[in-house]
Amino acid sequence: MSKKIVISAIGGPEVLKYIDYDLPSNLQKDHVRIRQTSIGVNFIDTYHRSGIYPLPSKTPVCPGLEAAGEIIDLGTEVEDFNIGDRVCYAAVPLGAYCEIRDFPSSKIIKIPNYISANTAASILLQGMTVEYLFERLYKIKKNEFLLFHAAAGGVGLIASQWARSVGAKMIGTVSSDTKAELAEKNGCAFTINYKNENVFEKVKEITEGKGVTVVYDGVGKDTFNVSLECLDFRGLFVSFGQSSGMVPIIDLHKTFNPKSLYYTRPTLMHYTSTRNELEQSSNLLFNKIQNNEIKEHIFKTINLKDAAEAHTLIESRQSTGSIILKP
Ligand SMILES: NC(=O)c1ccc[n+]([C@@H]2O[C@H](COP(=O)([O-])OP(=O)(O)OC[C@H]3O[C@@H](n4cnc5c(N)ncnc54)[C@H](OP(=O)(O)O)[C@@H]3O)[C@@H](O)[C@H]2O)c1
Repeated sequence: MSKKIVISAIGGPEVLKYIDYDLPSNLQKDHVRIRQTSIGVNFIDTYHRSGIYPLPSKTPVCPGLEAAGEIIDLGTEVEDFNIGDRVCYAAVPLGAYCEIRDFPSSKIIKIPNYISANTAASILLQGMTVEYLFERLYKIKKNEFLLFHAAAGGVGLIASQWARSVGAKMIGTVSSDTKAELAEKNGCAFTINYKNENVFEKVKEITEGKGVTVVYDGVGKDTFNVSLECLDFRGLFVSFGQSSGMVPIIDLHKTFNPKSLYYTRPTLMHYTSTRNELEQSSNLLFNKIQNNEIKEHIFKTINLKDAAEAHTLIESRQSTGSIILKP
């Protein structure tokens, strides 16, 4: 018997239950069996649990999209991996919150020897997100101002470091002075504590009245309007998440025409859908780690059985950086 967490019903963190399960008797021919040693917690896991995003089937459902561990068995058609390989993944299907799982070999990545399993599980999903946001969706440039909400969060601290490595001037919003200090230490050029500063006025001041060319907004409902305000003419609004709730339903013409703005609502899975994209994205991230341009920030390591605590921490804005679960 192995152990896993399931979402027993749609609801708060208390619906996460720790239960026994049996592994399938047959390993699918293109899958590998992974003994997981670290599991990444991401805000999206809370959307699945709370019902903001639909679940793939009726409850109970094992959540989670990211983990690292060791291959303990191979399907008959798996060629590129061996038993004993250290691997990680950040992809569907859901089901990372468990001790052992079968996973498609086409979506796993070998962990380089200079990266630990804990680091891999804490950084792969959030790091590849920053890679596609900053390198492919829109290529940020040296000395360019960009606005990024929740700069001290999991994605935010990696974004701060990535922006610094490019020489871009990231303006990050945060909810406390402690978070501001942390984001700045990680390379965020300017921080705005939105609890006591006016984000629009500060962005205007920093950019000498122009506004930013791009805003990365993972907060959603609460930041939608200020993100629009802070953009320069022909700016790009990248809405990549909704930690405060879904963005409002809006009038396209009234919202985007006054400044000829662009709007996109991207998702990581569409930027890592081919093997080539997945390898290039993870390699770029791993290279930045090897070059000491990016470092993981593990806020807390929590026992898998206490996954509810991880969800409470991330939803209550108490966490900075990433949280990992240990089976
Ligand atoms: N589209 C994609 O491909 C993709 C991939 C990965 C992640 N994401 C999104 O990126 C965002 C960040 O993810 P993460 O895992 O790194 O989380 P996170 O940033 O560590 O945590 C969320 C942060 O959002 C801020 N926030 C503002 N209002 C909030 C509210 N009402 N409730 C909770 N938090 C609030 C908080 O920062 P302050 O206290 O500083 O306000 C909080 O720390 C999420 O929206 C996630 O869904 C999207």
